[in-house]
Amino acid sequence: MIFNIEVNNKVLKAKRGDSILETLNQNGISVPTLCRMQSFPSSGACRLCVVEVEGKEDLVPACSHNVEEWMKIHTHSPRVINARRTIVELLLSSHPDDCLYCIRNKNCELQELADELGIRERKLPIVKKQVKKDPSSVSITREPDKCILCGRCIKVCRDWIGISTLDYIGKAMNTIVGPTFDNKLNISNCITCGQCIMVCPTGALHEKDDVNKVLLALQDPDKYVVVQISPTVSVSLAEEFNIRFGKELDELLVATLRRMGFNKVFKTAFAADIMLIQMAEELIDRMEKNERLPILSSNCPAFVKYIEQTYPDLIPNLSVIKSPQQIMGSLVKHHFAKDQKVKAEKIFSVSLMPCTAAKFEASREEFTHKGNSDIDVTLTTRELARMIRLYGLNIQQLAPEVSDTPFVIRTSASKIIGTSGGLAEALYRTLYYKLTGKQLINFKIAALRGNKKIKEYNSKIGNHKIGIAAVNGLSNAVELLDKIIEGKSAYQFIEVMACPGSCVNGGGQPIGSGQEAIKARIKTLYDIDEKESVKASYKNMAVTELFDKYIDKEKESFFQQFITSYQKRDVML
Ligand code: SF4
Ligand code: SF4
Ligand code: FES
Repeated sequence: MIFNIEVNNKVLKAKRGDSILETLNQNGISVPTLCRMQSFPSSGACRLCVVEVEGKEDLVPACSHNVEEWMKIHTHSPRVINARRTIVELLLSSHPDDCLYCIRNKNCELQELADELGIRERKLPIVKKQVKKDPSSVSITREPDKCILCGRCIKVCRDWIGISTLDYIGKAMNTIVGPTFDNKLNISNCITCGQCIMVCPTGALHEKDDVNKVLLALQDPDKYVVVQISPTVSVSLAEEFNIRFGKELDELLVATLRRMGFNKVFKTAFAADIMLIQMAEELIDRMEKNERLPILSSNCPAFVKYIEQTYPDLIPNLSVIKSPQQIMGSLVKHHFAKDQKVKAEKIFSVSLMPCTAAKFEASREEFTHKGNSDIDVTLTTRELARMIRLYGLNIQQLAPEVSDTPFVIRTSASKIIGTSGGLAEALYRTLYYKLTGKQLINFKIAALRGNKKIKEYNSKIGNHKIGIAAVNGLSNAVELLDKIIEGKSAYQFIEVMACPGSCVNGGGQPIGSGQEAIKARIKTLYDIDEKESVKASYKNMAVTELFDKYIDKEKESFFQQFITSYQKRDVML
């Protein structure tokens, strides 16, 4: 039912059931918010969204009160502005004054609010929180003294990821947000997905900053510094430089990285094609033997960690094929080093990833040999952007350059794996060819695209019934995983990506870009797939050439480098 209300002395239309905040936003009026998040019920924790409603004694939080007929609302009266200023001044009184050094400087919601509300001096005495930084995780750093207790990270970790690592701890003035028993993050059940970082309004949660390690390597004349670019980093970096959302910067990024001094620039997508070919063969092998089905995808390191710690009985179901990051890491330090006669110890291998969990993956001992890791440093899209700014490079003014051989060719299948359902769709293309010797007529599988929590595709290839599921966001996987344990799963392959939306919305991507940007990233990846003619990984000629080199000699050890193993993990709950 539609009715009239009055806002700031103007009559507006409102809909029964909508909150005051929704109604204001629909009418182009904005009020500040801090704890609220789209698609979550309001918690009313911050009270910054308060408005004055005539006839009500107290100010009312707009996010948790519904509109009523002929309400008379004042969104920016002196009383309201004073209340908001007091809330922010209180938050600032216990906030460290180190904005200049903070990783979120110039992209902090608290800083923006203080500015918007015209707070120019400290009015309340400083009440410093006595809480220490937690740098224990290789992916995520906690700085609890910067936490404003908005609770966003708690909701995301619990409801989107289904992990519940974080919660309120302590009481009253001593309340903090952290892992159970105030433990360190590295011994908690955190799967390092980084989604809590994406919603944190301040610098209380952020990626482990590894930029300096790369700078030092670039300045070291004894290092041969190699970098790989993930397929989704190149479609999300644009937002960091006010370039059109979703613009593919691939070749401009190659030019930028060369200006920084990287000796070789490779595309992770080449390794993604290898992963897809090897995974299709693994699936055929398991289907023929009727064992360890369904295969669970293993290219999301956060999901792999989740299986290791929460569903150890399903470890045998995980695909043993390494992620594209680690396949490329292995190719660089072994195949490339040998081919180019560069000592593996001299190579410093950097990966640019949309993901904080990729930092954890790179640190796994399976990928370290005699103290030498296949990947030395993983940088997120955000760290990459900071590095480009540090070098003073204008990415748009450079001329595009192609990446380096021999890992230069990729198919469009290797691009779409950054979307939810994209891995399953890309895998199916090679699976179909391997089972029939024929190419698919229609490559697009609409059932595996889009935003649904679980997408399904059932088909028959020859005598094989193929049931595929793609799970969008880890919390949606539980039911399917329980069914496997009960022996009731009808699928042959299940893709699980921990972050809702998959890598395009990974925990290392630009913060605050919003849904429009994420949609633009997805569109770019599918547009590339639509336009390009080589759509299936088995058609990557450079991969075929590489494989052919090893048909006889050293074949086994060559293919062994694409395979890994997993371990049961004990974590504090
Ligand atoms: S990184 Fe992911 S699992 Fe870890 S605390 Fe944050 S949201 Fe939870
Ligand atoms: S860590 Fe960040 S998101 Fe979590 S409660 Fe604190 S300020 Fe909010
Ligand atoms: S945004 Fe309404 S109470 Fe926080």
